[in-house]
Amino acid sequence: MKAVRFHEYGDPDVLRYEDVEQPVPGVGEVRIRVAATSFNSVDGNIRGGFMRGPIPVELPHTPGLDVAGTVDALGEGVDGIAVGDDVIGFLPMDGNGAAAEYVLAPADVLTPAPKSVPLADAAALPLVGLTAYQALFDHGKLTAGQRVLINGAGGAVGGYAVQLAKNAGAHVIATAGPRSSEAVKSAGADEVIDHTTTGVTAAVTEPVDVVLNLAPVDPAELAALVMPVRPGGVLVNTTVWMPAPSDEDRGVRGIDLFVRSDAEQLAKLVALIDRGELHVAIAERLPLAELPRLHARAAEGAVHGKVIVVPTAA
Ligand SMILES: NC(=O)c1ccc[n+]([C@@H]2O[C@H](COP(=O)([O-])OP(=O)(O)OC[C@H]3O[C@@H](n4cnc5c(N)ncnc54)[C@H](OP(=O)(O)O)[C@@H]3O)[C@@H](O)[C@H]2O)c1
Repeated sequence: MKAVRFHEYGDPDVLRYEDVEQPVPGVGEVRIRVAATSFNSVDGNIRGGFMRGPIPVELPHTPGLDVAGTVDALGEGVDGIAVGDDVIGFLPMDGNGAAAEYVLAPADVLTPAPKSVPLADAAALPLVGLTAYQALFDHGKLTAGQRVLINGAGGAVGGYAVQLAKNAGAHVIATAGPRSSEAVKSAGADEVIDHTTTGVTAAVTEPVDVVLNLAPVDPAELAALVMPVRPGGVLVNTTVWMPAPSDEDRGVRGIDLFVRSDAEQLAKLVALIDRGELHVAIAERLPLAELPRLHARAAEGAVHGKVIVVPTAA
């Protein structure tokens, strides 16, 4: 089968589109015929060798943490999932990913795919959708009637976070630059602050219950984001290379988020999609052989929005 792999850590040119043996599912695993994977910025960090501590991978390694596809073979001990099922999942970060025609997955990370969007497009959901969900609800404990500030709402996580917060009945204040402003408004933001022209903390005049930071701001800007949080509120940060600020005097907690795979939460997101309450936005659909070029573009900052990567027919 075809796969994209790197045999050594390094720049995007370490990625090779090559022939690889089709994997055989072990106990508790299924093999999936991949309809698509998606690009996440952590893929570049893993390839570059910057994540060797928290995410040790074996070389050669196939990237691609998100998968959407069709179950093609079952390993021993797999129940409740059958050959022919369309599934999605956030794959283990230290295993081979879905930038390939086939991938193995532990059966328990998989969820039935949404029926209302093309199977390949559903690869745009797992990692970023779960990040948004876990930030708002596991860590932020956001409830109806509360106010949330989402900084960096113009990106892939932000698109889901705005929709989920709005759907939960929160008042959503979002930051977006000019290129993202319309998308963030149509995702449901009540207020949009242009972070390219306006100081975010000064523009938030009433306290919020939760701040979600998704933007690669500098550490001083991140520290300032604690100011609009009400006493006892929470700041959840996904840009974990900078620790989340807190304010002990006011009981404001800062939480660094590390997304985890969760098939039940993913099923909740799928249900929202199939009820028409969560929209899956795709910026680009590229063939698998283009993945090295996509990593190069991402390293140059030239990728905006969610890109899915589709193996060509075998
Ligand atoms: N810790 C974890 O487990 C985890 C999981 C998933 C993602 N992440 C991280 O979370 C971040 C968001 O992920 P993503 O996939 O949504 O990334 P993304 O698609 O690159 O979006 C980030 C957005 O931030 C906005 N932005 C840039 N500079 C800004 C500024 N100074 N102020 C406000 N907004 C600014 C940009 O939107 P505009 O168009 O408005 O400029 C950009 O689209 C990334 O850093 C990613 O690596 C972490």
